[in-house]
Amino acid sequence: MLAGGGEAQLRLLDADDKGLLRRGFERLSDDGRYNRFFVRKRMLLDAELDYLTELDQIHHLALVAVRATALEPTEGLAVARAVRLVTEPHVYEGAIAVVDEFQGRGLGAALLRRLMAATAERGGGSLRFCLLPTNTAMRALLTSLAPQSAFVDEDGVLRLDIPLDGSSPARSTAAALDARAGDRLRPRARRPPAPGR
Ligand SMILES: CC(C)(COP(=O)(O)OP(=O)(O)OC[C@H]1O[C@@H](n2cnc3c(N)ncnc32)[C@H](O)[C@@H]1OP(=O)(O)O)[C@@H](O)C(=O)NCCC(=O)NCCS
Repeated sequence: MLAGGGEAQLRLLDADDKGLLRRGFERLSDDGRYNRFFVRKRMLLDAELDYLTELDQIHHLALVAVRATALEPTEGLAVARAVRLVTEPHVYEGAIAVVDEFQGRGLGAALLRRLMAATAERGGGSLRFCLLPTNTAMRALLTSLAPQSAFVDEDGVLRLDIPLDGSSPARSTAAALDARAGDRLRPRARRPPAPGR
């Protein structure tokens, strides 16, 4: 339930969500885009859309908040993602964006809580956020979710690591997900033709 009324559904983002993501990006203000991408960005390139939506959901996962409206069956409201760092495999780097008109209604906090749980499920030891020091909304959100974690200034960018609960029951889910990914990589057995064909 959103503060102020209405509801949103959270689910994994997938390769079919390119249009959804592009429309959501267009609804982010210039400052919102700058805070998310650290550059003044006018549009998402096709290659960027591919990178942001073609996910294995283990080393790179993303959650999207959507709602159905009278005009659109699925309107994208927010997205949060976590990418496992090659150099520090126990660390995932997180990012989040909520379209401007839905900010301040609890979506950011709800998505980050789910992202923390999903990252722990995949065996992540911590979730790292890098943000501009002027990003007061994100600073406040992170402080409320991880009051024990401290911001570290790295050449003008703030970094904060949120430790994830290593005893999460999800560790076993991580193994199951890895097994499923293995299945996807193996060639599938061909189904026998349906009777009568
Ligand atoms: C940062 C961002 C994700 C917050 O999302 P949101 O949905 O607006 O946040 P929520 O409504 O869940 O707010 C959660 C808490 O964050 C803090 N917060 C959110 N917006 C704030 C603001 N503008 N000023 C101060 N605190 C703020 C508050 O502590 C709030 O808790 P409260 O509602 O109990 O007061 C959103 O502003 C955004 O998408 N910004 C542009 C992209 C960006 O900066 N991404 C982060 C880079 S990784």
